[in-house]
Amino acid sequence: MDFLTLFAVYVTVVLTCIVLVCKYSGQQQTPFSILFNFVGKVFAPITPRWLQKFSQRTLHRLFHQRNNMFIYLHILIEAAVLAEFTYEVFGFCRDMDTSLISLSVPYILLVIKSLCFYLCIRRDPGTVTKKKIAGQLHIYPYDRRLFQPGVSCETCNLVKPARSKHCRVCNRCVQRFDHHCVWVNNCIGAQNTRYFLLYLFSVCAAAGDVAVLTGDMLLHAVLRSGLLRASYIDEEGQQQSAGPLFVVQHLFLTFPRIVFMLGFLVFVFFLLAGYALFHSYLALVNQTSNEWYKSRGYVCQHCHPTATADHLCSPTPDHSKRNYYSRGILRNLGEIFFPPRPVHKKDN
Ligand SMILES: *[C@@H]1O[C@H](CO)[C@@H](O)[C@H](O)[C@H]1NC(C)=O
Ligand SMILES: [Zn+2]
Ligand SMILES: [Zn+2]
Repeated sequence: MDFLTLFAVYVTVVLTCIVLVCKYSGQQQTPFSILFNFVGKVFAPITPRWLQKFSQRTLHRLFHQRNNMFIYLHILIEAAVLAEFTYEVFGFCRDMDTSLISLSVPYILLVIKSLCFYLCIRRDPGTVTKKKIAGQLHIYPYDRRLFQPGVSCETCNLVKPARSKHCRVCNRCVQRFDHHCVWVNNCIGAQNTRYFLLYLFSVCAAAGDVAVLTGDMLLHAVLRSGLLRASYIDEEGQQQSAGPLFVVQHLFLTFPRIVFMLGFLVFVFFLLAGYALFHSYLALVNQTSNEWYKSRGYVCQHCHPTATADHLCSPTPDHSKRNYYSRGILRNLGEIFFPPRPVHKKDN
């Protein structure tokens, strides 16, 4: 396969991943679980029963129960990239006179990222509890569109506040529920959406910065080697100049780990940038991914033939509008970064 084909395949895969992540975020049935189920069904007749049971239990534990597996995986990948950057790229960049300041930016970004990551993991996303529910019920009015008043959660035995949802993984209701994130082993809700957004942006920035530094280093390596001016004699005895394919091949053979890391970082960057943009968009229009997903399939009973007489609809229903609840960008962002706290009865 030539280089351009490879690159086209790569871009297609990345774009598909971005679309899939945007499309299915906030949904219980992710494409991964569908894929796993499908693979499981296909191989079911030829796998022994104990293995089926074991893999089902493992998958269940991984995706449907709280566990720290993805946090460890995250730290492991991060440590690998950091070690690779420090031991191979850093020294080379120092040799080619990259300033210490620009070389320390990845480490600073890493510290910021780790802080946001930690806060995402540790912060309570806004669990609905018996003690706080009186205040939590008053934070948002019911829109009678996606959230109806007087509905109780069967598991928690508590009235569901508007914009809340029961997280099946954590087994609790969470206020302004966005989604359950396996990477931080926590729900993303009212109190930690801000850290989640900052986390996404700092990961993108860190991945992008390391990728740029690494790309710069590889470019210098190519220029230094004089490969661009090199030529070779082909089978017919003709002189051929070394094309881009040749250069890529040379880089792969000389710096296999660095090239692999760069590919991985570019992939992560585009994937997470798409995801971060999607979440910023949601933040700007005052929506959670839960609501975003729900309102896609929403059919107003007003227009629906089976609408009942007591059905309440907003005076001017505009169902097609995505930014249905938006009160202006600044106020929407204010709500994310300074989430309204439940009012305590005792304080009044
Ligand atoms: C966001 O939307 C909710 C309804 O879902 C609304 O009650 C709230 O006032 C909105 N907040 C802002 C800042 O627009
Ligand atoms: Zn619940
Ligand atoms: Zn959860």
